[in-house]
Amino acid sequence: MTTERTFSIIKPDATRRNLTGKINAKFESNGLRIVAQKRVRLTQDMAERFYGVHKERPFFKDLVKFMISGPVVVQVLEGTDAVAANRKIMGATNPANADAGTIRKEFAESVEANSVHGSDSLENAKNEIAFFFSEVEIVG
Ligand code: CMP
Repeated sequence: MTTERTFSIIKPDATRRNLTGKINAKFESNGLRIVAQKRVRLTQDMAERFYGVHKERPFFKDLVKFMISGPVVVQVLEGTDAVAANRKIMGATNPANADAGTIRKEFAESVEANSVHGSDSLENAKNEIAFFFSEVEIVG
């Protein structure tokens, strides 16, 4: 068990429905601390670079369009085994496959509008955090 930091995005479908507080309550009640957070509107260039690993996927264009369709809340979450813990709290990418009680089961609208993004590895977490935050903005 190690204390880790992971990166999270509350996506436009969730900010549009005013769900930021309800989603944050899921993180906090499951042992993660929000140690950095800001609400931003991604530019097309930012969204394309952030999701660059999916560039060849058929859903890439629509994903970028969706991610710039409204504000997002970018966050750093800290806690024991935070990367895996957050993936459990979020639930499966497709809400149809998500377990009961997870964010995506309760709030997601579709596989694209799935309310949250979370890093899938510690290495990606480090890169994704650095994409949005400087060290002084992260307060543990
Ligand atoms: P996220 O965890 O942010 O990583 C990539 C995103 O692509 C994913 O969540 C979904 O929002 C989106 N997406 C859209 N269609 C698909 C798909 N068919 N398979 C996986 N991810 C998809």
